[in-house]
This record gives sequence, structure tokens and C-alpha cells, in this order.
Amino acid sequence: MNLLTIETTCDETAAAIINEDLEPLASVVASQEKLHQRFHGVVPEIAARAHLERIMPVIDETLAQANLTLADINAVAVAHTPGLAGSLLVGVSVAKTLAWSLGVPLVGVNHLHGHIYACRLAAGRDIFPCVGLIVSGGHSSLYDCLGPSDFVPLGGTIDDAAGEAFDKVASMLGLPYPGGPSISRCAADGNPQAIPFPRPFLQDSSRLDFSFSGLKTAVRYEIAGPGRPDFSAIEISAQRRADIAASFEQAVVDCLVGKAELAIRKAGRTRLCVGGGVAANRRLRDALQEMADRNQIELIIAPFALCTDNAVMGAIAWEKIKAGSYDELSLDAAPGLIR
Ligand code: KG4
Ligand code: ZN
Repeated sequence: MNLLTIETTCDETAAAIINEDLEPLASVVASQEKLHQRFHGVVPEIAARAHLERIMPVIDETLAQANLTLADINAVAVAHTPGLAGSLLVGVSVAKTLAWSLGVPLVGVNHLHGHIYACRLAAGRDIFPCVGLIVSGGHSSLYDCLGPSDFVPLGGTIDDAAGEAFDKVASMLGLPYPGGPSISRCAADGNPQAIPFPRPFLQDSSRLDFSFSGLKTAVRYEIAGPGRPDFSAIEISAQRRADIAASFEQAVVDCLVGKAELAIRKAGRTRLCVGGGVAANRRLRDALQEMADRNQIELIIAPFALCTDNAVMGAIAWEKIKAGSYDELSLDAAPGLIR
């Protein structure tokens, strides 16, 4: 049995084929990084148009990689929530068309749940129950994950996502998009204690929330001082840039790790699963491991290749298929943030 999975929630056009043993037979990701680079972030309209151009070639290449044809596909899954409306619509329309024309079941999956399911694929065994931390360009959320279709929200960002903060701070420092890897490279030569950036809510044990908007402003003031709208005339030494990058990265890591630790305690779980693009961050991975060891909990972080958006994590659809739960062709894109 071959499941075709489609992912177009943000700026990656991706498809994969996964068999019922959760083995990926093929996976293709067409990144739009270069298209959005000069805007220092994803432009929704450009993303939607690029998905439209790429989705069929990506599916063709995925089939070719697996040495299969459409006639070998037994079900189609698509990430239909949450994400950018125009981007989601491309994936959902293609998935519905394929499911209808092939006469196979259609399954809609939640992109955020998929990010956590990447840990299931990496572990090769059941991961539920666990606390799930999703840290990406669009989301920073904590869940009590009771089962593959039972994610109870525990908390999340009240403004920007961690990845969004990485992208915008990189832009302020003159570093290329996407900001996460750029900041990490630059931070390697910096002192993470150089600047005491704010860590919102970290000391407040009543909340499992994040806030990264004020942190962006704090970095801006650190670079330019309050009230200066434009960075073009500002000279900044390589060492100072590295110190700002390292101090910013440390502040984000402290917030994410602190709240993940609190969530584990509040939910009474002994396993933490972490996914999303920011989970590729080395400083974050090391700090999470140190926290997990200290609390004697099991930590599963999605492997690097499955942290950023991909269609392999759409394998979560197998859980629904095995439970006999399919979607109608009326399945729609649901852009809204499901906390
Ligand atoms: O999960 P993802 O591919 O897309 C969304 O669903 O949003 O995450 C993309 C985000 C970007 O903001 C990018 O800067 C960030 O993940 N990212 C990183 C790293 N690699 C990617 N952030 C910090 N450190 C990294 N190494
Ligand atoms: Zn994502």
C-alpha cells in the first residue's frame, strides 16, 4: 500500500510516498528560499504562485524516485491546516483532484501534528503520550500529545513564532534569509552572555506561553537605539554582530527550554518530542538534551532532514487510514492557527 503525501503549507513544495510500514519510498522538497530571500521572509502571494508551478513536477519526480506510477497510489494525504491560505489551497486542490480521479481515499492532516510525528518516524516506535514542542517559522506551541489525533494545547506564542524572530533578527544584522542557520553560524563566534536580552514569562510558572516580539524590538534597540527606523547607516563590527546573534539565540533557547521543562512537569509526562524548523538549531538541541538528562525524561528531536517542512511527516495520515478515518472531497484549507 502506497500513500502519496503532499505538503504546501508555507514555502516548501513537497511530496513523498510512504508505505504502510511508515517507510518513505521517495521524498522531494522544492524549496522557495531564493524567491523569498530578498524580502527576508515568506511573501504569501509569491509562495502560492510558486507552489502552483512546482506541485506537479514535484509529484512526478517523487513517483519517479519510487519507481511507481499514479496507478500504484492507494491513498492521498495533504496538510490542510494551518498555513498560508493560498499555499494550502494549491496542495488541497491537487490532493482532492488526485484522490477523486484515482478513486482512492483522501486524508487531511494537521501540519503541526506532522512536525511531532517526524519524531515517531525517527524513533521507529510509538511516542505517545508525550509533550510536543513545535518551533517553526509560523508556530511556537506546546501540546500534551495523547495520541496521533489527540493533541491538547498547553501553550504557545502570544505574538511571533521563534523562527520568525530568527528571520527578522538576521535581517537586522544584515545576515541572509532564512535567519535561523545564518544566526547560528554568526553566533558561533559570539558570547551568549554579552547582552541580557529579555526572556518573557520565563519566571512565571503559571504560564506556558512564549513572546518573541519584544525580543525582536530589544535587538533592534541594541543595534540602532530607540526611534531609528533605518539600519542602512549603522556600522557594526563582526564581533558585536556575533555577540548580538549569540545573546539573541541564547534568549530564545532559554525560553523554549524553560517552558518545555515546565510543560513536562505540569502534564506529568516523561517524554518530550520536538519538531519544526527551529529544532534544527544546535544550541537548542544541546540545551534540550541537558534539560532532559537533568529531569530523567526521554527526549526525541526530529532528525535534521525532517525538522524543516517536508512531506514525509505526512505519514501521520497512516494513523487515520488504519483507523478507517478518511475525509470527504469537501475537505477545505483551514489557514487559522490551531493552538
Ligand atoms: O518548519 P519550517 O520549515 O516552516 C514552518 O512551518 O514555518 O521552519 C522554518 C523556520 C525559519 O524561520 C528558519 O529560520 C528556522 O525554521 N530555522 C532555524 C534553523 N533552521 C531553520 N532556526 C534556528 N536555527 C536553525 N538552525
Ligand atoms: Zn512547518
